[in-house]
Amino acid sequence: MANFFPRWTNFLPLKIAVCAGAVAGGAVLAFTYYATPKTLDAGYQPSQPIPFSHKIHVDQLGLDCRYCHSFVDVSGHSNVPGNNTCWNCHQHVAKDSPKLQPLRNRMDPTLEHPDFGKPIEWVRIHKLADYVYFNHSAHVNRGISCQSCHGQINHMEVVYQENSLSMGWCLECHRAPEKHLRPLEEVFNLNYSDADVAKYSKDAGVKTTEDLGLKLKEHWQISPKTSCATCHH
Ligand code: HEC
Ligand code: HEC
Ligand code: HEC
Ligand code: HEC
Ligand code: HEC
Repeated sequence: MANFFPRWTNFLPLKIAVCAGAVAGGAVLAFTYYATPKTLDAGYQPSQPIPFSHKIHVDQLGLDCRYCHSFVDVSGHSNVPGNNTCWNCHQHVAKDSPKLQPLRNRMDPTLEHPDFGKPIEWVRIHKLADYVYFNHSAHVNRGISCQSCHGQINHMEVVYQENSLSMGWCLECHRAPEKHLRPLEEVFNLNYSDADVAKYSKDAGVKTTEDLGLKLKEHWQISPKTSCATCHH
């Protein structure tokens, strides 16, 4: 990837963050909050080497996110699956599909293709600047679903970036996480809705996912940090 900004800009936020800690933190926060565009990169939808559909594999086949993104709840980084995960099924299923030719070239030794053994080069969609610290498991294991950040991936034929991933967007949730908190059993259920709430609370006053989120926030003592050093080490 081309680097559009000169190298020194990588360190700029850190310097600003350090100063902000010492002096006018509030003013800088207000500035950066409003200066960060809300629509940054939202909608980005590159085409992929194989037209992989989450709609088929998640909604129709019922595969769990962790079948392929197996590190998402145990590590800071969420992996994209390797060829073996696909080949487990596709050496038997849709064997002659032209869409899967790039996979066969890499996995079927009888084809003697020059790409044999090479990984599929999936185009990365969600990407933060290097100066931001982010951690998947810290969110997923505290009741924040993939859906809150990535949208309804289970309905997407082709993945696109639904949210800006800007600083303002992160902070919006860190200040009011109750809108997003859900029982841990529902984190990978991208169809979670008000209809599921009654399963978890007998309290008649708890009707919406947000009502339940507020309860969970108190119960689990969730308080996402908003200090600069949380995300800018
Ligand atoms: C059968 C395997 C499989 C399953 C199951 C699966 N994914 Fe994926 N996912 C992939 C592959 C392959 C890619 C890369 C290609 C693409 O973007 O479509 C991907 C890409 C993604 C991306 C974009 C990554 C980036 O580059 O930014 C997100 C977000 C994602 N998946 C979320 C989910 C969620 C949420 C679930 C569960 C609801 C899920 N996936 C289930 C295989 C899978
Ligand atoms: C658990 C088994 C399973 C896994 C794992 C799996 N698939 Fe599939 N895939 C299927 C099934 C079943 C279909 C539907 C086949 C059909 O409609 O004939 C399908 C359909 C497809 C299709 C559409 C084929 C066509 O001709 O329309 C593509 C492309 C595809 N998968 C790619 C992948 C890739 C890439 C991976 C790995 C990231 C993967 N699949 C992992 C079972 C799987
Ligand atoms: C709190 C928001 C948030 C939640 C919750 C979340 N993600 Fe992400 N995800 C992100 C951000 C931000 C990135 C970009 C990270 C980066 O660039 O370091 C990302 C990147 C990814 C990637 C691309 C990683 C790569 O290296 O190609 C995948 C795949 C992914 N997420 C899957 C998931 C799945 C599956 C879930 C649910 C189990 C999930 N995410 C939950 C915010 C989130
Ligand atoms: C939908 C809500 C939501 C969004 C969006 C969100 N977060 Fe969080 N974040 C949380 C919650 C909840 C916690 C856990 C707080 C707790 O454990 O008390 C958390 C914790 C964290 C932590 C502390 C993790 C640790 O290692 O202790 C970091 C760092 C963080 N978030 C960074 C980010 C960044 C960067 C973004 C934007 C790219 C982001 N978050 C977006 C809800 C969110
Ligand atoms: C919850 C996580 C989080 C916290 C807390 C946070 N930031 Fe950020 N910050 C981000 C993200 C995400 C970006 C955008 C990264 C990108 O564009 O990829 C960012 C970008 C920036 C930038 C780059 C300029 C811009 O507007 O894009 C500066 C400067 C910055 N932050 C300073 C600060 C300061 C100062 C504080 C404390 C008052 C702070 N940040 C707190 C997540 C955070």
